[in-house]
Amino acid sequence: MSGAGDAGSLRVELGARAYPIHFGPLEGGALAADVARRTEAGRRDAVVLDAAVAGAHGDMLERVFQGLPVLEVLGGEPSKDFATFEAVCDYLATERVDRSGALYAVGGGVIGDLAGFAAAAYLRGVRLYQVPTTLLAMVDSSVGGKTGINLRSGKNLVGAFHQPSAVYVDTGFLRSLPEREFRAGMAEVVKYGMLGDAALFDELEAIGGGLGPEHPALASIIRRNCALKAEIVRADETEQAASGGRALLNLGHTFGHAIEAVAGYGSYLHGEAVAVGLVLATELSVRLGLIEAAYAERVEAVLGTIGLPTRLTKPLAAEALLEAMRSDKKNRDGRLTFIVLEVPGRAVTRSGIEESVIRDLWLARGAR
Ligand SMILES: NC(=O)c1ccc[n+]([C@@H]2O[C@H](COP(=O)([O-])OP(=O)(O)OC[C@H]3O[C@@H](n4cnc5c(N)ncnc54)[C@H](O)[C@@H]3O)[C@@H](O)[C@H]2O)c1
Repeated sequence: MSGAGDAGSLRVELGARAYPIHFGPLEGGALAADVARRTEAGRRDAVVLDAAVAGAHGDMLERVFQGLPVLEVLGGEPSKDFATFEAVCDYLATERVDRSGALYAVGGGVIGDLAGFAAAAYLRGVRLYQVPTTLLAMVDSSVGGKTGINLRSGKNLVGAFHQPSAVYVDTGFLRSLPEREFRAGMAEVVKYGMLGDAALFDELEAIGGGLGPEHPALASIIRRNCALKAEIVRADETEQAASGGRALLNLGHTFGHAIEAVAGYGSYLHGEAVAVGLVLATELSVRLGLIEAAYAERVEAVLGTIGLPTRLTKPLAAEALLEAMRSDKKNRDGRLTFIVLEVPGRAVTRSGIEESVIRDLWLARGAR
């Protein structure tokens, strides 16, 4: 399914937990080979599959998974709940997946997080293989081992670190992905350019809005994102670094999560909220005197050409947004912590920022 030139693999170097990220078509590729090898060895494995992906790629997946039991689950945030988590665990038990068995998570970030958490918890942990089918999942959620579900009081509040045994990236899945979902995933791609790969940002600027599923540069851009994420995860696997480290991947997310929480989950796609958050994080970096205002304009222009929002689409209360930020997981000792840009292409953690500065930024981007 994938275009030529995007095959091969790279490794997430985590000592005993190291694993490959394979690039290229699933059929006739590394996944098909691994499934065949495990089936021959008599392993009892199962698949959790996004229902939309089943609809668009069912025949190909049937050939790759060769009759393994498949549980279809709806994509979308509501599936990251206890009821669906229980259903996945029960399914594994019904299919008699044992400690030598494995779970293949085939879908977007929702299926990856949900099934990943089930793999972490069922029998106190079975093997997990990630097969991302959205752009967001390919560049971000399938790599790094964060799994989890939501509580009514907040997103991703219950979960576990559970590294996959392998990740298989086949960009052919993106052809059936709704355009809005593709654009939302692009927000994370822009984020990587901003926090760790200035040349990637320049490239995205040059390509403008033309980076669709068929673009010849897409596969190598996804691969660069994975390499950057792999390196950040290698250096700080469980986000323990006092400053910097894995938390840097949250550039724009403190603002973005607040938008999602206040607007109600579902009004903005995650990537859309992150896009507004990236603009705000850049403007904060300008306010702190770290970078030039011209770079903030470039960030806004790149996101705008992709078709992502750069300000609130409906006014939200600044006070409510600030309140949501006060419960951000990055905060330490009750102080707001942000990821800001030190220079274009390099991010750092900053805490102790005055709330009035953040309020002004919100008001200038459509809050009331
Ligand atoms: N674990 C991590 O490190 C991490 C990182 C970032 C985000 N996340 C999580 O990822 C989730 C968002 O992931 P997402 O944006 O992939 O959403 P998603 O999994 O809900 O997928 C978006 C939509 O696209 C559909 N879909 C998926 N693949 C498709 C395809 N190939 N063709 C057609 N339709 C397809 C899904 O059914 C769904 O409706 C959030 O819950 C977020 O918290 C996790």
